Amino acid sequence: MEDERIVDDLQHDGEEHVEGSLRPEYLHEYIGQQKIKNNLKVFIDAAKLREESLDHVLLYGPPGLGKTTLANIIANELNVNMRNITGPSIERPGDLAAILSSLQPGDVLFIDEIHRLPRVVEEVLYSAMEDFILDIVVGQGEEARSLRIDIPPFTLIGATTRVGSLSSPLRDRFGVHLRLEYYDEQSLQTIILRTSEIFNIEISEQPLEALAKRSRGTPRIANRLLRRVRDFAQVENDNVIDLTITNKALTLLNIDQYGLDHIDHKIMNCIIEQYNGGPVGLNTIAVSIGEETITLEDVYEPYLIQKGFIERTTRGRRATQFAHQYFNSLNNELRK
Ligand SMILES: Nc1ncnc2c1ncn2[C@@H]1O[C@H](COP(=O)(O)OP(=O)(O)OP(=O)(O)O)[C@@H](O)[C@H]1O
Ligand SMILES: [Mg+2]
Repeated sequence: MEDERIVDDLQHDGEEHVEGSLRPEYLHEYIGQQKIKNNLKVFIDAAKLREESLDHVLLYGPPGLGKTTLANIIANELNVNMRNITGPSIERPGDLAAILSSLQPGDVLFIDEIHRLPRVVEEVLYSAMEDFILDIVVGQGEEARSLRIDIPPFTLIGATTRVGSLSSPLRDRFGVHLRLEYYDEQSLQTIILRTSEIFNIEISEQPLEALAKRSRGTPRIANRLLRRVRDFAQVENDNVIDLTITNKALTLLNIDQYGLDHIDHKIMNCIIEQYNGGPVGLNTIAVSIGEETITLEDVYEPYLIQKGFIERTTRGRRATQFAHQYFNSLNNELRK
């Protein structure tokens, strides 16, 4: 069980099918993120009233917080079609030009992992986003000439886990910037309850609280934990999800009381024991524990910071007092 990942490593292949079936379709079904929902509702209503395309929207934040879900919802609320592509899948400017010119007026183009769009492709987006014009070069050498083509007004929705990697010309062309936050426990409980209704399983108050607490503020993880616990309940507990089976499953999955998994523990033990509490650079930590720096930075660190285990300093990452206390007592337990 040691190797099962509950937290993302920026890939979650094979889960799309389940996830798709759990995706809320309209804004009112989207749980939490109240500020974002309030703002979006105003922007969407205004665009509809003016019969214009919605301003371009940039969604960013850690994996599993609902960016793709929100993009779908925006298209549904606008009652338009959505084209769905990912940054790395578009290799040539012509590919993007073809997609843009095939849109219907008002449609949404969703570009996931937009920070990975090749620069030459990205440049096509500048005039497309600003003036709904394609400026492209056709032909080569002496034959080359540049073409200007009008395209239908559209809304670009870009999603990224690393907004810092976006070039500023691209970032500045989004009128609406929405940063998704980790969910509070109440919202996670509501999400788990909603999912359990879809799965047609019963879950009482205590296991619900336990799962929400250990979901890392992340709907994807909340749903994933619920599915795992359901497996245990089915096999070992007559399909009843009670606190005992929930805690047993969470322990077997190596999820601690703060929702930290074995990789979080490796990170923290590395900082505390190998590097005396820090400060130590993220690259060094990554090499020591055999993980990608990018995964640590995008997936693990934001939560460890938010929960008060790590602080960032100019010279690297440092374990907080709280982290020292918690991990020392855990390690003392283990040594007993
Ligand atoms: N606000 C929400 N209410 C209910 N369910 C949600 C909410 N946000 C996300 N989910 C559920 O969590 C899962 C993950 O959401 P989603 O795929 O949209 O995340 P993401 O931010 O696009 O992740 P990634 O960065 O990995 O692409 C989906 O199954 C979705 O149904
Ligand atoms: Mg996504």
